[in-house]
Amino acid sequence: MTEIIEAETQRLILRQWKESDFKPFSDMNSDEQVMEFYPSPLSQEQSNEMALRCQSLITERGWGFWALEEKSTNCFIGFTGLHIPSHDLPFSPCVEIGWRLNPKRWGQGLVTEAAQAALGVAFAKLNLYEVVSFAAKDNVRSLAVMKRLGMLKQSSSFEHPALPIGHKLREHELYKIKQSQWATTAV
Ligand SMILES: CC(C)(COP(=O)(O)OP(=O)(O)OC[C@H]1O[C@@H](n2cnc3c(N)ncnc32)[C@H](O)[C@@H]1OP(=O)(O)O)[C@@H](O)C(=O)NCCC(=O)NCCS
Repeated sequence: MTEIIEAETQRLILRQWKESDFKPFSDMNSDEQVMEFYPSPLSQEQSNEMALRCQSLITERGWGFWALEEKSTNCFIGFTGLHIPSHDLPFSPCVEIGWRLNPKRWGQGLVTEAAQAALGVAFAKLNLYEVVSFAAKDNVRSLAVMKRLGMLKQSSSFEHPALPIGHKLREHELYKIKQSQWATTAV
């Protein structure tokens, strides 16, 4: 059986998903502000499907988009973690780092903290060569997380194939961090 990797930071636990996460996750995914840079908010059914997919990928691989539990409240507050994108992207194959947080928790550095732990798993445990991240070019908050992590902006943007040509969210910026760079900057 695959060992499930989980991680802990000062304020957070990055863990396998529980059924009790599904309702707060669905509430987040129906929020217009959270979903501003996705094609549309998710229905409860779509949100549950995504949570189940995250859960089953963690069971299968031992790692993935982990549920974030806030230690001080024991609340589920979103996800952060590693994922192999299902679309064929110009830089595939790759492992991406991604995140989504309850807007009540924005502005506290929680995702940066969680993502630092996820990069630790990627490089120190899984021995990956490189991790990428990408977001719609106007998703300033997400791009700021990539910069805070020390990821390097790649010179050319790319068109995300999941979105139709001409869609306002189709153009994405790409950031990368290599294991060698992480090893010299990780705190
Ligand atoms: C992208 C997203 C996760 C970023 O959330 P966030 O709270 O801005 O990011 P962090 O948790 O890293 O917090 C950074 C903020 O906390 C502040 N902060 C406070 N303490 C901090 C600390 N110890 N370390 C770092 N930042 C800290 C920073 O100054 C920054 O604030 P600012 O936005 O006023 O500049 C969030 O906006 C989100 O869930 N968006 C919707 C989903 C989404 O778009 N996902 C990405 C798709 S590509």
